[in-house]
This record gives sequence, C-alpha cells and structure tokens, in this order.
Amino acid sequence: MSSVTKKTKSDEKSDIKANVSETKSRISQLLCEKIIFRLQKKYIFVGRIDDMREVYLCYRKRSKAKKFVLKFYKCRDYSFNEHEILQHMGHHENIQILTHCYKFDQEGVCVLVSPFIEDESFTKHPYNTLQSESLRLIFVYMKQLINAISFCHSKGILIRDIKPSNLLWNPKTEKLIMIDFGLASFYRDKGHVTEVGTEGFMAPEVVACNEETQKKSVFPVTPYHYLVDIYSAGVVLGSLLFQKSEVETEPSLMKQWRQYCKKYIQKIKKYIQPNLSEPEDVLRLFFELFLGMTHSDVQYRWSNTGCHAHLTLIGNKF
Ligand SMILES: Nc1ncnc2c1ncn2[C@@H]1O[C@H](COP(=O)(O)OP(=O)(O)OP(=O)(O)O)[C@@H](O)[C@H]1O
Ligand SMILES: [Mg+2]
Repeated sequence: MSSVTKKTKSDEKSDIKANVSETKSRISQLLCEKIIFRLQKKYIFVGRIDDMREVYLCYRKRSKAKKFVLKFYKCRDYSFNEHEILQHMGHHENIQILTHCYKFDQEGVCVLVSPFIEDESFTKHPYNTLQSESLRLIFVYMKQLINAISFCHSKGILIRDIKPSNLLWNPKTEKLIMIDFGLASFYRDKGHVTEVGTEGFMAPEVVACNEETQKKSVFPVTPYHYLVDIYSAGVVLGSLLFQKSEVETEPSLMKQWRQYCKKYIQKIKKYIQPNLSEPEDVLRLFFELFLGMTHSDVQYRWSNTGCHAHLTLIGNKF
C-alpha cells in the first residue's frame, strides 16, 4: 500500500485558526533522543517500529511482561491532540488503548503510550484467489471496522485517516484494532472545511477543500461531516475485494466499477463455488456495500446503519 501521506494538519480548535494549514512535521532525531533519555528512567527502548516515524517499541522497566508502543508527536495548540481524542473516546474493543501520555511542554512534544498490538497486514493473507475463507475474513474485518467507526461517531469524533496501515489485524484472534487518531477531530454542526487525510482514501468532499482547488473554484466549499469515514472504509473494502493496493473511486469511474464488479463475479465464482452455496449472492452484496460506501455524492452514500444492516445480510450467508 502506497503510503504517500497527504496530511494537512490544519484543523479547527477555534474558528480563528480554522484555516491554519501545514504539512505533517516530524520531530527531529536529536529532540527524540533527548526525550528518550528522560523516558529511559521508566522504559527500555527496543527500537523504532517504523524507520520513517517516531514510533518506538518499549518495555516498562518494572515489568517486562508487556510490550508498549511510544509515539512521539508535536503538541498542537491550534487543534486537538491525539491523546485528547483518545481520552475522550474511552474504551472500545476495536480501538487502540491509551495507557499514558507524557507532555514535554518546553520541547512541544507529546508521547503517547499504548499497548503493542500483534499485527500482520491483512493483505498478507493468501489472496491468490478470492476464496470463501477470504470472503469470510473480509466480512469479519469490515464488521469490526464499521463497529469502530460507529463508536467513534457516537463519541462525536471524525477519524479522517482510515487506511490499511492504521488498521492493525491479528490473524490468530481475527481482531482488528484501529490506531492513529492524529488527524481526528470533534464533530462540528457546521462541518469541516479543511483537506485532511491520506491521498487515495479521502472522500471527494474532503479533496474539494484543497486550498489550491478552492482558489480556482467559483463555488464555496461544502463542509463535510461523518460520512467521510465511511468513504475511506469503502476504499479499504475495495482494495480487499479487488486485491489492489489502490482503488480509484472518482465519480466518472463508478459506472466502470459497476461493470467491473459484474465481470469480476463471473471470473471468480468458480473458485468460490465449492465452499459457498451462493457465491454470486455474497459477492454481489459485497460489491453493493463497496459502491454504497464510496458513493461520491454524500447524499447517496450509505450511513453506518446502512452498512451494519448490509453486513448482517452478508453474515447470514456464511
Ligand atoms: N500500538 C501499536 N502496536 C503495534 N504497532 C503500532 C502501534 N502503534 C503504531 N504502530 C505501527 O507504527 C506505524 C505508525 O504509527 P501511526 O500510524 O500511529 O503513526 P503516524 O506517524 O501517524 O503514521 P502515518 O502518518 O503514516 O499515518 C503504524 O502503521 C503501525 O505499523
Ligand atoms: Mg498511521
């Protein structure tokens, strides 16, 4: 999965700062080392989880039984910080737990501590053909993803960065955990008007908020709401169904997608037939879900409730 991240950290803590826009700024290695030195009183640092990010695997000094992940990020005063979102959220079985948060005010750095999650990329599963077992797993994955999204929305939180690398999957327990609320925000009645997210997963109404696009446009930007998360989750579903790392869902492509889905069913049903009594039905339901979730017109995009109901229909087929 290409991880070209287009994150505009502009957000809306206050109206005055609503249009502050900056690309994601990383913390310098030197600053990280300075903070690590101070945290070493409590933690043993094993190493970085990801070379590109300030995310470290650690043990607590007093008990080495559990592994933890320490994520370093710049504290923001113009917007909500990741730990504030997680604190507000509370517990849900498909959402990462916030164990602790350290604030280094002088350095302007926050360190979020959460339990390490055993994960194996969902797409590493043998996907040579979309067999019935893969379809069952996609169902399990999507059900948990929609549950996590619904929970966030019920707490008044827009996630705004749903993508495979933020969805950790444990194949042994078949459990999904959503991580990374670095771009999340609280719901506002009047909506959001800043382009925030990862390229390829942002809903069209989010992309339309792009500052450059806006300068050229004669139309005022339409504020966006919760359904941007359903769109991103729909793109994730598409990438699993079609076994593609990126699924383009521009409005002009939707007609092509519908035709593609029909052909795809014919192509792969022979692999699924022996294990699933109604393979065409299951695939058709999955494609309907994908098309409903990624509808470019937000008025016709499926709601969380619609997705839940549809997933129940799919679940009954297994
Ligand atoms: N609790 C955790 N357990 C296991 N791995 C984790 C955990 N938290 C983060 N990671 C790993 O570290 C990576 C980066 O973490 P995270 O997504 O929170 O950082 P980020 O800088 O916001 O990333 P990006 O900008 O790419 O979205 C994740 O994709 C995941 O692989
Ligand atoms: Mg991430």
